[in-house]
Amino acid sequence: MHILFVTSEVHPLAKSGGLADAVASLAKTLASRGNRVSLVLPRYGSIDSKTWEKREISLKVPLGDQEILTGWFYRRQEGLDLYALDHRDLLGRSGIYGPSPAEAYEDNLLRFALLSRGALELALALDLEPAVIHTHDWPTALVPIFHRLFYQNTPLGRARTVFSIHNFGYQGWAPLERAHETGLSREELDRAGLCHNGEINLVRGALIAADTLVAVSPRYAREIQTPPFGFGLHQEAARQGDKLTGILNGIDQDEWNPETDTALPARYSRKDRRGKALCKEALQIEFGLPPEPGVPLVGMVTRLTEQKGIGALFGSGGGEEPSLRRICRELPLQVILIGTGEVWCQEEILRMTGELPNFSALVGYSEALAHRITAGSDFFLMPSTYEPCGLNQLYALRYGTIPVVTSTGGLADTVDRHTGLLIRHYSPGGIVSALQEACRLYREAPLRLEEMRDTAMARDFGWSRSARDYQSLYGAITGETGSASSPGTSRE
Ligand code: ADP
Ligand code: GLC
Repeated sequence: MHILFVTSEVHPLAKSGGLADAVASLAKTLASRGNRVSLVLPRYGSIDSKTWEKREISLKVPLGDQEILTGWFYRRQEGLDLYALDHRDLLGRSGIYGPSPAEAYEDNLLRFALLSRGALELALALDLEPAVIHTHDWPTALVPIFHRLFYQNTPLGRARTVFSIHNFGYQGWAPLERAHETGLSREELDRAGLCHNGEINLVRGALIAADTLVAVSPRYAREIQTPPFGFGLHQEAARQGDKLTGILNGIDQDEWNPETDTALPARYSRKDRRGKALCKEALQIEFGLPPEPGVPLVGMVTRLTEQKGIGALFGSGGGEEPSLRRICRELPLQVILIGTGEVWCQEEILRMTGELPNFSALVGYSEALAHRITAGSDFFLMPSTYEPCGLNQLYALRYGTIPVVTSTGGLADTVDRHTGLLIRHYSPGGIVSALQEACRLYREAPLRLEEMRDTAMARDFGWSRSARDYQSLYGAITGETGSASSPGTSRE
């Protein structure tokens, strides 16, 4: 089967979070199962085009009464046909969504409308004729809408559309005054259901237009149909409930493998975990903490946004003391963190690093450090307010690092009492209690802890099962059930 992905992120070319990892490894797995996979993304300024083939034919992408001239590059990589849409002013900036993680470009509606319409024009120009067009989150939410409005009577009309919901907290809101950036008239916007509460809402349009909807975990598929998780769209999600399903993300088990991970100072396996102690010691030294084997080490790798629990960890709202300061003062443990995001939170983290002898953090982004923290920590903290799937807890499990998580979304679907610790209530006090339990386990029940590490490392969160589920879903909506399902089957 031929599947066309359209995405704003794909690891390692463009990444702000787990979306990039999930898209890359799903695409790769589908290709390794014998499918043909094409993927369109923007050529951001950070993508070095020297290793790509430049194609001389330009595309004229229609957006309302204007046509935007767009170039494109091609590269074959890991079994995928990659197409990078090139428009220097709009897509060629170095940031994906903004100049920094805390800021958005003002014209994102236009930028991602260009990507969405451009991908369909490219598919048409190259006669790609995919059976499935699969798009991801608000940046490519316009694809199923454009497909329904403008491509039904073209060779692309046969394709079915899939819209993946990685994070309902971002819906592509924009003021109605910017509607012209989508190229749609007011009548078309209304017909597509893109207006909601007096503004544009791209995700709402995609919920209505796409042939099928996938949330990135079964629990999250149910949660988004309820007010606390719907961000204003729970009713629409429930209305579309018949075509909404939840499929858990997998992880790239080659990239995240403690037996082969080249970012680590020592490697280890489920059977022989001695290297993990060396990773811990090296990590403590790297972060300037005393290399004490007897002190439990808690790690975090995170975007610093409300979703990830920074309110309870670092904020001062709600009257309770933020939990991380209290934890570091009262509990016999060390905490190491890497993250970027909200400026107030970055500032508080830098202050804490100066003030607390058992807390050390790096405000920044580093893949290699993320691997070393995941391997060297005893516990991995994710007190998310909501978590569609979450990949970090899956990486932690694979590295024998015990996740300490709130029971929500994909965290609830992947961590249980045999492999992790649950934060019973999302609050500073709830987080403190869970880490008290972690310290108790570490000191008083080391055998139980080792058993949990063993069980965690034995769990399989690779892509095989999820890719099979996607394949069945594609088969069901296209009627193409005879698609390749085992490695080595030839392309259609
Ligand atoms: P989300 O996509 O909501 O941020 P996930 O758990 O799905 O959460 O994925 C986060 C991904 O981003 C992981 O691959 C994680 O390692 C990575 N990541 C997040 N922040 C950083 C950082 N500061 N440095 C390195 N990697 C990071
Ligand atoms: C989003 C979600 C995260 C999920 C990732 C990949 O960024 O916040 O929970 O794991 O997408 O699907």
